[in-house]
Amino acid sequence: MPSTEIGRSGGFPDGFLWGCATSSYQIEGAAGVDGRGPSIWDAFCREPGRVSRGQNGDVACDSYRRWPEDVRLLSELGVGAYRFSVAWPRVQPDGRGGPNRAGLDYYSRLADALLERGIEPWVTLYHWDLPLALGEAGGWTARDTAYRFADYASIVYGALGDRVGHWTTLNEPWCSAFLGYEHGEHAPGLRDRNAALRAAHHLLLAHGLAVEAFRSGGHAGEIGLVINPATPRPATRRPADLEAARRASVERTGLWLDPVFGRGYPAPYLAARGAAMPALDGDMATIAAPVDFVGVNYYNEDAVAAAPASPASPDGYRLAPTSTEKTEMGWDVVPQGLRRVLGFIAGSWPVGALYVTENGAAYADTEESAGRVRDADRVAYYRGHLAACRDAISDGVPLRGYFAWSLLDNFEWAHGYDRRFGLVSVDPRTLERRPKDSYYFYRDAVAGYLE
Ligand code: FCB
Repeated sequence: MPSTEIGRSGGFPDGFLWGCATSSYQIEGAAGVDGRGPSIWDAFCREPGRVSRGQNGDVACDSYRRWPEDVRLLSELGVGAYRFSVAWPRVQPDGRGGPNRAGLDYYSRLADALLERGIEPWVTLYHWDLPLALGEAGGWTARDTAYRFADYASIVYGALGDRVGHWTTLNEPWCSAFLGYEHGEHAPGLRDRNAALRAAHHLLLAHGLAVEAFRSGGHAGEIGLVINPATPRPATRRPADLEAARRASVERTGLWLDPVFGRGYPAPYLAARGAAMPALDGDMATIAAPVDFVGVNYYNEDAVAAAPASPASPDGYRLAPTSTEKTEMGWDVVPQGLRRVLGFIAGSWPVGALYVTENGAAYADTEESAGRVRDADRVAYYRGHLAACRDAISDGVPLRGYFAWSLLDNFEWAHGYDRRFGLVSVDPRTLERRPKDSYYFYRDAVAGYLE
């Protein structure tokens, strides 16, 4: 008898993991509750001019209290995994010493509730909310922060390791190092090129130490790193632009994956910056501790052109204008760029498994009619990018899963609540959650009905 289940995989392999992602500072709120210490983002938000309209994460989506509703939304979405991050300052309020039980209990309850609904918790250990006390002691420019991170990671493995099967150490260390210490756009808001490189090394060291601690602790499960790689396209076929595009991708790819896969730092990149990494003996072996997977966060693909080195283009290239449709972030919508970047990574490093750990879009105007939140742009964005994932898989890329960013409209860093990535809208005043059309589109995709 013909089955109505034909085509139920939506063109994705059996066992493909469907998930949804958030991060602690962006959704939790409850900033001073149950002993949570301040983070560098709490402090950064209070500096005038840093975050749009002086907004902050004090309340955010109030998920610290409303998590049962969020778990229900995830369950009705049908996802198999939820990627959330643990707020380090909830676990160690000043970044060192014994654990704050009340903070850990929150994540413990969340993990239990997810598992009860058949949703696997995917835990990110660091999604940018560094304890302020460590920030004041130098943040990621200080080598000690890497050791503090490994201690913190061990506490979290001990508390949740019996229920968490997938861990990621750092989320997008490029943003922590470069947006935080060179571009001044993220906490702590420095503009110091050398500080960014020191931060990059210590982030990688922190990653490696945390992987080593995971292995030596004998925890079951898999561990990896999440990066936001970029493979910009050259504005023209001129050799200078081709070379600029190649160089522009290194800071977002090879700078992280070369050392993680035991190849050391990309020497031409460091030479071009005229700087060395503060690596001590043994660091590179630690950083190369084997990972089980690499997570890729992808939103857009830029075009770059060669440019004379200047304060505006210190690395000898600049972003080139494009005619491409843009999201509310001003980011080009390039679904096939996701296929390209996945193919580039799979072809350049011996990654056993890849996951798209974030992908999604901010759009301003969701029309609401008859109680329905309509976001056709976001639906189109997901449709295109899921098709690109299918293409990547047929190219032979070992892509094992996909996480939509994000479950909820949330605190979008320097943009505050002015940029909304949610599958579910969150009313800024009442915090009421309402699924958008994209939520139902994604639910159907997860169920295998991606047309
Ligand atoms: C990524 C971040 C995530 C979110 C999206 C839009 O860089 O990891 O927290 O802000 O961008």
